[in-house]
Amino acid sequence: MRIYKVGGAVRDRLLGKPVTDIDWVVVGATTEEMLAKGFRPVGADFPVFLHPKSGEEYALARTERKSGRGYGGFTFHASPEVTLEEDLIRRDLTINAMAEDDQQNLTDPYHGQRDLEARLLRHVSPAFAEDPLRVLRVARFAARYATLGFTVAPETLALMRQLSESGELEALTPERSWKEISRALMEDQPQVFVEVLRACGALKVLMPEVDALFGVPQPPAHHPEIDTGAHTLSVLQQAALHKQPLTVRWACLLHDLGKGLTPEEEWPRHIAHEFKGLKLIKAVNERFKVPRDCQELALLVGEYHTHGHRALELKPSTLLELLQSFDIYRRPQRFEEFIAACEMDARGRKGLEERSYPQADYLRGAATAARSVAVQPLLEKGFKGPELGEAIKRERLKALKAYKETESI
Ligand code: CTP
Repeated sequence: MRIYKVGGAVRDRLLGKPVTDIDWVVVGATTEEMLAKGFRPVGADFPVFLHPKSGEEYALARTERKSGRGYGGFTFHASPEVTLEEDLIRRDLTINAMAEDDQQNLTDPYHGQRDLEARLLRHVSPAFAEDPLRVLRVARFAARYATLGFTVAPETLALMRQLSESGELEALTPERSWKEISRALMEDQPQVFVEVLRACGALKVLMPEVDALFGVPQPPAHHPEIDTGAHTLSVLQQAALHKQPLTVRWACLLHDLGKGLTPEEEWPRHIAHEFKGLKLIKAVNERFKVPRDCQELALLVGEYHTHGHRALELKPSTLLELLQSFDIYRRPQRFEEFIAACEMDARGRKGLEERSYPQADYLRGAATAARSVAVQPLLEKGFKGPELGEAIKRERLKALKAYKETESI
């Protein structure tokens, strides 16, 4: 049996990037031999094993044939006769289809090294089409390596377009898609992920609500970039520049979906887009079974981001409603994330990237004022049940009125 390091570990070493996960391919072995050496099988009929000590993944060299639609439609053919070259040719990108032995001798039959130098994400062979998730993977790699100058090869983009138009993307499970989407959003240039998906027609299939934002104008006074799609991408880019967490990035991507519903005759204004967008945000959230914290923040940011921008003009009663909607007393972190998303929205506009955002501290101050209301004195006065709730609200409103007055001096 011969063992090679493959995939991302080889690619990232050649790029001079840190290697975290190592994947191995085993040529000339049977399942029985692997088990006899103490390897633990990963799944019942999947020829992948975990090393007894390192826990790293060792896969038997295999060829894959597609027998049906979607992820469930794979059959794996692994046998000691499958060569390294046969295994590598079924992989997604040439830069991911290189192998290395323990002497660091490179096996690179599909010219991955040449494409690394040319900064090209190029598919290895037509077998690329066997797994439609690769459309998302390529877009994710484009987002990750954009800073290094990588682009998608035109013939690969054409294949991605074919796959997107074939209806294959609809067969992806929400879990697999979300894993790619969430990883892509956490890259340095997440907007490139969206751009590449759009360029190959996959955005229209996966998130038509986001795709619809391109070509929709906004008022130039607030949005010098004008286009809503361009704005969304800039907001995402700002979120990455400011190292925001996934929750904030997801909310940034979806915050303006309502603008895609505005009738053309109302352009470039988008009356009540915050509210109109909620059903679209909900639909996207559900489509990918997005984690609860991301779902919640996206809906709250969708509904209230303009409140955030107008924070200094809000009446104390509106400010209180905003704080109550966020349940700032029990969920302080979520309110911080809302403020961050609003700030990214304000900065994700052409020429305004460096603007200050005094609304952020103002909102934090308002939250502190509302939280400072003590419940004990109200209990001592004998308030109970719903009356106690009303009394707390009154006191919070008083605190916010006082806060607004001191702030406006
Ligand atoms: N692979 C593939 N098609 C997929 C998934 C994986 O061809 N849909 C192959 C690629 O050769 C890839 C390797 O399996 O390099 C390992 O996959 P994975 O660990 O998911 O990705 P990495 O390339 O290691 O990238 P990352 O750094 O994102 O983990």
